[in-house]
Amino acid sequence: MLKTNDKLVTVRVPATSANCGPGFDCLGMACTLYDTFTFELIPEGYELEIEGEGEGRMHPSPNNLAFLAFLKLWEQVKHTETGLKVHMKNDIPLSRGLGSSSAAIVGGLMAANYLSGKTMKPQELLNMATAIEGHPDNVAPAILGGFTISFMENGTAQALRIVPARRYNLIAVIPDMPLSTAKARGAIPAVIPHKDAVFSASRAALLVGALMSGKSRLLPIAMEDKLHQPYRGPLIPGSFQAFAAAKKAGAYSAVISGSGSTLLAVAHLQADGNKIGLAMQEALKKEGMDSTVKLLKLDLRGAKIL
Ligand code: HSE
Repeated sequence: MLKTNDKLVTVRVPATSANCGPGFDCLGMACTLYDTFTFELIPEGYELEIEGEGEGRMHPSPNNLAFLAFLKLWEQVKHTETGLKVHMKNDIPLSRGLGSSSAAIVGGLMAANYLSGKTMKPQELLNMATAIEGHPDNVAPAILGGFTISFMENGTAQALRIVPARRYNLIAVIPDMPLSTAKARGAIPAVIPHKDAVFSASRAALLVGALMSGKSRLLPIAMEDKLHQPYRGPLIPGSFQAFAAAKKAGAYSAVISGSGSTLLAVAHLQADGNKIGLAMQEALKKEGMDSTVKLLKLDLRGAKIL
Protein backbone atom coordinates (compact mmCIF):
# COMPACT_ATOMS: atom_id res chain seq x y z
CA MET A 1 0.00 0.00 0.00
CA LEU A 2 1.64 3.28 -1.11
CA LYS A 3 0.62 6.35 0.86
CA THR A 4 2.17 9.36 2.47
CA ASN A 5 1.50 10.82 5.91
CA ASP A 6 3.59 12.35 8.66
CA LYS A 7 5.07 8.96 9.61
CA LEU A 8 5.30 7.27 6.25
CA VAL A 9 6.47 8.27 2.79
CA THR A 10 7.14 6.53 -0.51
CA VAL A 11 9.95 7.62 -2.85
CA ARG A 12 10.68 6.36 -6.35
CA VAL A 13 14.30 6.69 -7.53
CA PRO A 14 15.65 6.00 -11.05
CA ALA A 15 18.56 3.80 -12.00
CA THR A 16 21.56 5.72 -13.29
CA SER A 17 24.31 5.05 -15.77
CA ALA A 18 27.51 6.88 -14.84
CA ASN A 19 30.60 7.75 -16.89
CA CYS A 20 28.78 7.47 -20.27
CA GLY A 21 32.13 6.56 -21.86
CA PRO A 22 34.63 9.37 -21.37
CA GLY A 23 33.03 11.14 -18.38
CA PHE A 24 34.62 9.14 -15.59
CA ASP A 25 33.24 10.23 -12.19
CA CYS A 26 31.43 13.22 -13.74
CA LEU A 27 28.84 12.35 -16.42
CA GLY A 28 25.69 10.40 -15.66
CA MET A 29 22.15 9.82 -16.83
CA ALA A 30 18.95 8.69 -15.18
CA CYS A 31 17.19 5.69 -16.76
CA THR A 32 13.60 4.48 -16.78
CA LEU A 33 14.18 1.64 -14.31
CA TYR A 34 13.23 2.26 -10.68
CA ASP A 35 13.48 1.30 -7.04
CA THR A 36 10.54 2.31 -4.86
CA PHE A 37 11.12 2.77 -1.13
CA THR A 38 8.52 3.23 1.58
CA PHE A 39 9.95 4.54 4.86
CA GLU A 40 7.91 4.44 8.05
CA LEU A 41 8.90 5.89 11.40
CA ILE A 42 8.42 3.32 14.15
CA PRO A 43 9.15 3.72 17.87
CA GLU A 44 12.27 1.56 17.87
CA GLY A 45 14.29 -1.04 15.99
CA TYR A 46 14.75 -1.67 12.27
CA GLU A 47 12.54 -3.66 9.92
CA LEU A 48 13.01 -4.39 6.22
CA GLU A 49 10.79 -5.93 3.56
CA ILE A 50 12.11 -6.40 0.02
CA GLU A 51 10.43 -7.34 -3.23
CA GLY A 52 12.62 -7.90 -6.26
CA GLU A 53 16.38 -7.37 -6.43
CA GLY A 54 18.11 -8.17 -3.14
CA GLU A 55 15.15 -10.14 -1.77
CA GLY A 56 16.38 -12.49 0.95
CA ARG A 57 19.90 -11.01 0.70
CA MET A 58 19.61 -7.74 2.61
CA HIS A 59 18.90 -7.30 6.29
CA PRO A 60 17.55 -4.43 8.36
CA SER A 61 20.53 -2.56 9.74
CA PRO A 62 21.64 1.04 10.25
CA ASN A 63 24.46 0.15 7.84
CA ASN A 64 22.11 -0.69 4.97
CA LEU A 65 22.46 2.36 2.69
CA ALA A 66 18.76 3.26 2.67
CA PHE A 67 18.63 3.17 6.49
CA LEU A 68 22.01 4.86 6.84
CA ALA A 69 21.09 7.78 4.58
CA PHE A 70 17.67 8.24 6.17
CA LEU A 71 19.03 8.17 9.72
CA LYS A 72 21.91 10.51 8.90
CA LEU A 73 19.63 13.26 7.65
CA TRP A 74 16.94 12.59 10.26
CA GLU A 75 19.38 12.81 13.16
CA GLN A 76 21.01 15.92 11.71
CA VAL A 77 17.68 17.76 11.38
CA LYS A 78 15.70 16.38 14.34
CA HIS A 79 18.56 15.79 16.82
CA THR A 80 16.85 12.59 17.90
CA GLU A 81 16.95 8.88 17.05
CA THR A 82 14.10 6.89 15.54
CA GLY A 83 13.17 3.33 14.69
CA LEU A 84 12.58 2.69 11.00
CA LYS A 85 10.66 0.28 8.81
CA VAL A 86 11.58 0.18 5.12
CA HIS A 87 9.77 -1.54 2.29
CA MET A 88 11.72 -1.77 -0.98
CA LYS A 89 10.42 -2.73 -4.39
CA ASN A 90 13.67 -3.06 -6.29
CA ASP A 91 13.91 -3.26 -10.06
CA ILE A 92 17.52 -2.00 -10.24
CA PRO A 93 19.93 -4.95 -10.19
CA LEU A 94 22.58 -4.90 -7.46
CA SER A 95 26.30 -4.44 -8.15
CA ARG A 96 25.78 -4.14 -11.91
CA GLY A 97 26.71 -0.48 -12.53
CA LEU A 98 23.16 0.84 -12.64
CA GLY A 99 23.27 2.93 -9.48
CA SER A 100 21.42 0.71 -6.98
CA SER A 101 23.51 2.12 -4.09
CA SER A 102 22.84 5.68 -5.16
CA ALA A 103 19.13 4.92 -5.46
CA ALA A 104 19.08 3.63 -1.87
CA ILE A 105 21.02 6.66 -0.61
CA VAL A 106 18.87 9.17 -2.49
CA GLY A 107 15.68 7.35 -1.44
CA GLY A 108 16.73 7.51 2.22
CA LEU A 109 17.70 11.17 2.10
CA MET A 110 14.57 12.28 0.20
CA ALA A 111 12.30 10.38 2.58
CA ALA A 112 13.99 11.70 5.71
CA ASN A 113 13.90 15.22 4.31
CA TYR A 114 10.20 14.90 3.59
CA LEU A 115 9.28 13.47 7.00
CA SER A 116 11.49 15.90 8.91
CA GLY A 117 9.94 19.03 7.41
CA LYS A 118 11.58 19.46 3.96
CA THR A 119 14.31 21.76 5.21
CA MET A 120 17.01 20.58 2.78
CA LYS A 121 17.30 21.87 -0.75
CA PRO A 122 18.29 19.58 -3.67
CA GLN A 123 21.83 21.03 -3.53
CA GLU A 124 22.21 19.99 0.11
CA LEU A 125 20.79 16.55 -0.67
CA LEU A 126 23.31 16.22 -3.50
CA ASN A 127 26.13 17.02 -1.10
CA MET A 128 24.99 14.59 1.57
CA ALA A 129 24.42 11.85 -1.01
CA THR A 130 27.87 12.41 -2.53
CA ALA A 131 29.49 12.29 0.90
CA ILE A 132 27.94 8.85 1.47
CA GLU A 133 28.50 7.50 -2.07
CA GLY A 134 31.99 8.91 -2.57
CA HIS A 135 31.46 10.48 -6.01
CA PRO A 136 28.61 12.52 -7.49
CA ASP A 137 28.07 10.98 -10.94
CA ASN A 138 25.29 8.53 -9.95
CA VAL A 139 23.59 10.50 -7.19
CA ALA A 140 23.25 13.69 -9.29
CA PRO A 141 21.08 12.14 -12.04
CA ALA A 142 19.24 10.04 -9.43
CA ILE A 143 18.14 13.27 -7.72
CA LEU A 144 17.74 15.55 -10.73
CA GLY A 145 16.85 13.21 -13.61
CA GLY A 146 18.12 13.82 -17.14
CA PHE A 147 21.80 13.90 -18.07
CA THR A 148 24.10 15.49 -15.52
CA ILE A 149 27.60 16.90 -15.50
CA SER A 150 28.76 16.88 -11.91
CA PHE A 151 31.93 18.10 -10.29
CA MET A 152 33.54 18.69 -6.91
CA GLU A 153 34.63 22.15 -5.86
CA ASN A 154 36.27 22.69 -2.47
CA GLY A 155 34.69 19.49 -1.22
CA THR A 156 31.23 20.47 -2.43
CA ALA A 157 29.38 18.49 -5.10
CA GLN A 158 27.61 20.43 -7.82
CA ALA A 159 25.79 19.35 -10.95
CA LEU A 160 24.56 20.85 -14.17
CA ARG A 161 21.51 19.05 -15.52
CA ILE A 162 20.84 19.01 -19.24
CA VAL A 163 18.09 17.52 -21.34
CA PRO A 164 19.52 16.17 -24.62
CA ALA A 165 18.00 17.63 -27.77
CA ARG A 166 16.96 14.16 -28.95
CA ARG A 167 15.58 11.05 -27.31
CA TYR A 168 17.47 7.79 -27.59
CA ASN A 169 16.97 4.11 -26.99
CA LEU A 170 19.18 2.93 -24.13
CA ILE A 171 19.83 -0.79 -24.27
CA ALA A 172 21.12 -2.21 -20.99
CA VAL A 173 22.72 -5.63 -21.23
CA ILE A 174 23.09 -6.86 -17.66
CA PRO A 175 25.47 -9.80 -17.11
CA ASP A 176 24.54 -12.35 -14.46
CA MET A 177 27.93 -11.60 -12.94
CA PRO A 178 28.03 -8.81 -10.36
CA LEU A 179 31.10 -6.57 -10.28
CA SER A 180 31.95 -4.53 -7.21
CA THR A 181 32.79 -0.88 -7.70
CA ALA A 182 35.80 -1.31 -5.41
CA LYS A 183 37.22 -4.08 -7.64
CA ALA A 184 36.48 -2.10 -10.83
CA ARG A 185 38.10 1.04 -9.41
CA GLY A 186 41.09 -1.03 -8.32
CA ALA A 187 41.70 -2.03 -11.96
CA ILE A 188 42.36 1.58 -13.03
CA PRO A 189 45.97 2.76 -12.77
CA ALA A 190 46.68 5.77 -10.55
CA VAL A 191 48.50 7.54 -13.41
CA ILE A 192 47.55 7.55 -17.09
CA PRO A 193 49.42 8.96 -20.10
CA HIS A 194 48.77 12.64 -20.82
CA LYS A 195 47.68 11.82 -24.36
CA ASP A 196 44.98 9.50 -22.98
CA ALA A 197 43.72 12.30 -20.71
CA VAL A 198 43.52 14.60 -23.75
CA PHE A 199 41.72 11.88 -25.71
CA SER A 200 39.07 11.47 -23.01
CA ALA A 201 38.68 15.18 -22.15
CA SER A 202 38.05 15.97 -25.83
CA ARG A 203 35.44 13.19 -26.09
CA ALA A 204 33.68 14.19 -22.86
CA ALA A 205 33.36 17.77 -24.07
CA LEU A 206 32.21 16.56 -27.48
CA LEU A 207 29.62 14.25 -25.88
CA VAL A 208 27.93 17.09 -24.02
CA GLY A 209 27.97 19.19 -27.21
CA ALA A 210 26.61 16.35 -29.32
CA LEU A 211 23.76 15.70 -26.88
CA MET A 212 22.85 19.37 -26.53
CA SER A 213 22.97 20.07 -30.26
CA GLY A 214 21.31 16.82 -31.29
CA LYS A 215 24.26 15.95 -33.57
CA SER A 216 23.90 12.23 -32.90
CA ARG A 217 26.32 11.32 -35.72
CA LEU A 218 29.10 12.49 -33.34
CA LEU A 219 28.17 9.98 -30.63
CA PRO A 220 30.33 7.07 -31.89
CA ILE A 221 33.44 9.22 -31.40
CA ALA A 222 32.11 11.23 -28.46
CA MET A 223 31.53 8.11 -26.34
CA GLU A 224 35.07 6.77 -26.73
CA ASP A 225 37.13 6.62 -23.57
CA LYS A 226 40.66 5.90 -22.41
CA LEU A 227 40.30 6.64 -18.69
CA HIS A 228 38.61 3.52 -17.41
CA GLN A 229 37.20 1.14 -20.04
CA PRO A 230 40.50 -0.17 -21.41
CA TYR A 231 41.32 -1.34 -17.86
CA ARG A 232 37.88 -2.55 -16.83
CA GLY A 233 36.89 -4.26 -20.06
CA PRO A 234 38.90 -7.41 -19.25
CA LEU A 235 36.91 -7.78 -15.99
CA ILE A 236 33.78 -8.30 -18.14
CA PRO A 237 34.71 -11.09 -20.60
CA GLY A 238 33.25 -10.35 -24.03
CA SER A 239 32.63 -6.65 -23.34
CA PHE A 240 34.81 -5.31 -26.18
CA GLN A 241 33.23 -7.78 -28.60
CA ALA A 242 29.78 -6.71 -27.34
CA PHE A 243 30.61 -3.04 -28.03
CA ALA A 244 31.53 -3.94 -31.61
CA ALA A 245 28.39 -6.09 -31.97
CA ALA A 246 26.20 -3.23 -30.73
CA LYS A 247 27.56 -0.88 -33.38
CA LYS A 248 27.23 -3.50 -36.09
CA ALA A 249 23.58 -4.00 -35.07
CA GLY A 250 22.88 -0.28 -35.40
CA ALA A 251 23.79 1.44 -32.10
CA TYR A 252 25.73 4.70 -32.08
CA SER A 253 27.93 3.35 -29.31
CA ALA A 254 28.06 1.07 -26.30
CA VAL A 255 29.95 1.57 -23.05
CA ILE A 256 30.41 0.10 -19.59
CA SER A 257 27.62 1.48 -17.40
CA GLY A 258 29.22 2.98 -14.30
CA SER A 259 31.78 0.53 -13.03
CA GLY A 260 30.00 -2.43 -14.72
CA SER A 261 29.15 -5.15 -15.20
CA THR A 262 26.23 -3.76 -17.27
CA LEU A 263 26.96 -2.63 -20.82
CA LEU A 264 24.82 0.22 -22.16
CA ALA A 265 24.21 0.87 -25.85
CA VAL A 266 22.84 4.18 -27.12
CA ALA A 267 20.79 4.06 -30.30
CA HIS A 268 18.44 6.12 -32.43
CA LEU A 269 14.84 6.06 -31.24
CA GLN A 270 13.86 4.15 -34.39
CA ALA A 271 16.71 1.61 -34.10
CA ASP A 272 15.84 -1.97 -33.24
CA GLY A 273 16.75 -2.19 -29.55
CA ASN A 274 15.98 -5.91 -29.36
CA LYS A 275 18.35 -6.65 -32.22
CA ILE A 276 21.12 -4.60 -30.60
CA GLY A 277 20.55 -6.23 -27.22
CA LEU A 278 20.57 -9.70 -28.71
CA ALA A 279 23.80 -9.04 -30.64
CA MET A 280 25.48 -7.86 -27.44
CA GLN A 281 24.13 -10.82 -25.49
CA GLU A 282 25.49 -13.23 -28.08
CA ALA A 283 28.93 -11.64 -27.88
CA LEU A 284 28.95 -12.03 -24.10
CA LYS A 285 27.62 -15.57 -24.33
CA LYS A 286 30.55 -16.57 -26.55
CA GLU A 287 32.75 -15.74 -23.57
CA GLY A 288 30.52 -17.74 -21.24
CA MET A 289 28.59 -14.80 -19.83
CA ASP A 290 24.79 -14.97 -19.52
CA SER A 291 22.89 -11.69 -19.42
CA THR A 292 19.51 -9.98 -19.43
CA VAL A 293 18.47 -7.14 -21.73
CA LYS A 294 16.38 -4.15 -20.63
CA LEU A 295 15.19 -1.53 -23.10
CA LEU A 296 15.24 1.85 -21.38
CA LYS A 297 14.95 5.57 -22.05
CA LEU A 298 16.31 8.65 -20.31
CA ASP A 299 14.35 9.48 -17.15
CA LEU A 300 13.75 13.22 -16.92
CA ARG A 301 12.05 13.35 -13.56
CA GLY A 302 14.64 12.08 -11.08
CA ALA A 303 13.72 10.97 -7.56
CA LYS A 304 10.11 11.61 -6.78
CA ILE A 305 7.92 11.51 -3.65
CA LEU A 306 4.89 9.49 -4.63
N1 HSE B 1 32.25 6.73 -11.67
C1 HSE B 1 32.10 5.56 -10.85
C2 HSE B 1 33.07 4.51 -11.34
C3 HSE B 1 30.70 5.06 -10.98
O1 HSE B 1 33.13 4.30 -12.55
O2 HSE B 1 33.76 3.90 -10.54
C4 HSE B 1 30.44 3.80 -10.22
O3 HSE B 1 30.12 4.04 -8.90
